[in-house]
Amino acid sequence: MAARASRKLLRDFLFRRACTTPIASARHCSSAAETAPKIPHFSKKGRLLTGTFLGLVIGGGAYVSTVDEATFCGWLFSATKLVNPFFALLDPEVAHRLGVSAAARGWVPREKRPDPSNLGLEVWGRKFSNPVGLAAGFDKNAEAVDGLLGLGFGFVEIGSVTPVPQEGNPKPRIFRLREEGAIINRCGFNSEGIVAVAKRLGAQHGKRKLDETTSTSSSSGEEVKPGGKAGPGILGVNLGKNKTSEDASSDYVQGVHTLSQYADYLVINVSSPNTPGLRMLQGRKQLKDLVKRVQAARDEMQWGEEGPPPLLVKIAPDLSKEDLEDIAAVALALRLDGLIISNTTVSRPDPVSTNPVASEAGGLSGKPLFNISTSFLKDMYILTRGKVPLIGCGGISSGEDAYKKIRAGASLVQLYTAFAYGGPALIPQIKAELSECLERDGFKSVSEAVGADCRVATAKV
Ligand SMILES: Cc1cc2nc3c(=O)[nH]c(=O)nc-3n(C[C@H](O)[C@H](O)[C@H](O)COP(=O)(O)O)c2cc1C
Repeated sequence: MAARASRKLLRDFLFRRACTTPIASARHCSSAAETAPKIPHFSKKGRLLTGTFLGLVIGGGAYVSTVDEATFCGWLFSATKLVNPFFALLDPEVAHRLGVSAAARGWVPREKRPDPSNLGLEVWGRKFSNPVGLAAGFDKNAEAVDGLLGLGFGFVEIGSVTPVPQEGNPKPRIFRLREEGAIINRCGFNSEGIVAVAKRLGAQHGKRKLDETTSTSSSSGEEVKPGGKAGPGILGVNLGKNKTSEDASSDYVQGVHTLSQYADYLVINVSSPNTPGLRMLQGRKQLKDLVKRVQAARDEMQWGEEGPPPLLVKIAPDLSKEDLEDIAAVALALRLDGLIISNTTVSRPDPVSTNPVASEAGGLSGKPLFNISTSFLKDMYILTRGKVPLIGCGGISSGEDAYKKIRAGASLVQLYTAFAYGGPALIPQIKAELSECLERDGFKSVSEAVGADCRVATAKV
């Protein structure tokens, strides 16, 4: 009896619920029309607007589905320009944080178009699909390696990573000089430390390797794919030292022990202007001792067929001619695998000097750094007689700039500041322009153009 009553109650309840949803009530409840609530009537204008909107969505969707992947990818990259003005309104460090989080979550476009074939090159036995990389400092803690590589960079350098986590300098510590296309920063190696970064890289390494294996097994081609240890993208790990550490070389050795297994190349950063005493390590004796110790630490580890990752040193653009000669001598004597030229400058070249922000302490990057760092690059290429691969960094904001660095002696190039201003759309643009520059001047590949502006000078040395 109770069961029958409760079944009736349930039936009544369900029936009433069904009748209160507009579509269901229209279809099934005509007999109960007088008890059902009134179906809301849209005005003629409302119906017209809804119809137009739906038509646009359906028509747009149908059109997009006919567009090929490359065109769609191009649209996505161009569309990212729309968010640049919004980012420009935010505090630089907040904007940077947002950018890293977006890339870490995959909320950035993924480059599906192949790189122009004249951009491919081999350095340290590794195949780079293009020579344009992301410089250190953007992804200091390896949070977004996959997303950043997916943007189409030929390689991404994470760090600088310090052995022990440290906060860096007090905020604000990043300043925009928008009109000059420049930034001044005094971050001071804010880092989550080698252990946190190793955990993150370990997890990503496994995932990227798995993705690579899956995609390799499905492709029939025999050609060697560009890429590093863990997949199609090449990963550099930039090592720093803790502010309070008294034994700098021991800090770099700790970095090597913990992170080198994930690195396609390692960088000893002795050129940040924001860690007291760091730049002193660029002196001839200090650098020689440091590189020897780090090389030994790396070589003592167990390496498979591929051998240990190449070791590079990143230098400042504020050195004297003698300093450069000393560094070149050390690089040649110790068979250093490469040099990155350069980090930020403590100088304030024109037109920055007249900007009130120029008085902020820290390293200047972006367009005003281009000439200084390119001239250093050229000097170093000549001093090392083209025997040490160089990464040209500082002020690159176009394909023509990247091309000039290559002609000045860079095998690879990196950028940070122009990417911070221009966003993802800048990367395909730089690659396309660089490819055109090579073609225009009759170079079949990047390698052919490396050091083109120094050939007469090198012949004379
Ligand atoms: C906000 C900021 C943070 C940086 N942090 C690092 C860093 O941690 N380690 C490093 O080696 N270089 C760092 N750099 C320097 C860049 O890697 C690069 O050498 C320099 O900005 C010049 O390149 P650009 O003109 O394309 O920006 C940083 C640069 C900026 C703007």
